Amino acid sequence: MTQGRPLLNRRLAEFGTTIFAEMSALAVRTGAINLGQGFPDTDGPEEVREAAVRALRAGHGNQYPPGPGVPELRTAITEHQLRRYALAYDPDTEVLVTAGATEAIAASMLALLEPGDEVIALEPYYDSYAACIAMAGATRVPVTLHPEPTAGGYRLDLDELRSAVTPRTRLLLLNTPHNPTGTVLTREELAAIAALACERDLLVVTDEVYEHLVFEGEHLPLASFPGMRERTVTISSAGKTFSFTGWKVGWLTAPRELVSAVRSAKQFLTYVSAGPFQYAVAEALRLPDSYFDALRTDLRAKRDLLSVGLAEAGFEVYRPAGTYFVTTDIRPLDSTGDGFAFCRSLPDRCGVVAIPNAVFYDHREQGAPFVRFAFCKRTDVLEEAASRLKTLAA
Ligand SMILES: Cc1ncc(COP(=O)(O)O)c(C=O)c1O
Repeated sequence: MTQGRPLLNRRLAEFGTTIFAEMSALAVRTGAINLGQGFPDTDGPEEVREAAVRALRAGHGNQYPPGPGVPELRTAITEHQLRRYALAYDPDTEVLVTAGATEAIAASMLALLEPGDEVIALEPYYDSYAACIAMAGATRVPVTLHPEPTAGGYRLDLDELRSAVTPRTRLLLLNTPHNPTGTVLTREELAAIAALACERDLLVVTDEVYEHLVFEGEHLPLASFPGMRERTVTISSAGKTFSFTGWKVGWLTAPRELVSAVRSAKQFLTYVSAGPFQYAVAEALRLPDSYFDALRTDLRAKRDLLSVGLAEAGFEVYRPAGTYFVTTDIRPLDSTGDGFAFCRSLPDRCGVVAIPNAVFYDHREQGAPFVRFAFCKRTDVLEEAASRLKTLAA
């Protein structure tokens, strides 16, 4: 406190410390297996690491790279969007390289929102969304995804989405494949969202960082639907696709006017970042399809391994169609249904760390009994975690 006032401003007061810091500290203190935070425990492809070393040694990107990103990476991003999704962007004006998807989200919110604007996001949501909307002085309007035990996933109620739109709604902030539920929005759902965005003249920011981690169905960028390219900012990142979360190389693609607006905010956040890594990610994006297929196959097997282990331990498992997270309902094991208490006690009870999904909700009660486990870990680590979790059932 100074002058009788808290130091942290009102907009951020509710975001003091994250559960990830608390749970990772708990993992370190107890020596538990950390299936909380979503980062792989093995690095990405050797040739991509070598490309970063080569760039460093050759002096590529060791000084401030260009504000929009190095041309090699911007070109590789546009080639990737064209090759995978038939989406054409101009590398000079319709791409912006950012410090991870996190900065792309923050810069988009800071650039595109006025105080008082409403932003619709699918709840549960990735924690930075709420904070970035708050930093922009806007208001978040959650639309809650519904757990569907029989379908094994979560479902978006399109009528609820439609009725959440008001005259103050400026933007839809979407995420597919979706963290933490693993939901992959279907073609029909995306078409309905696109029609709604066009009808109500909304901007859309879509976070597609798990675009290459789809095990059931397919990833369809919202920007590829009729009327959407001109109103959509599409965000992705090298962290999840190439298992280099520490490099913090992200990007967005959008029409020139949107990129130009977001760049106005981005230039005063980091200005630029990750110079040599940008060259390496340009090479990574040009890896053959076999790399992306192998990544998906490996993670699908890990999803299945952990999902079976969790089911055998007594959890109700919501098998994800994408991402590297699996959501579980703890109630078969714990009749209180208190995910926070469950996660805080789990390291001592069986040596595993997980995240209570309630942290991803405004309507905390809706998320209370759900707990998220990350499966982007080595097979032996997941096997050990599964065998530890089985002791809960005893
Ligand atoms: C949905 C989602 N968006 C964005 C990010 C952050 O991406 P980056 O590390 O590239 O900033 C994450 C990381 O967990 C995420 O799950």
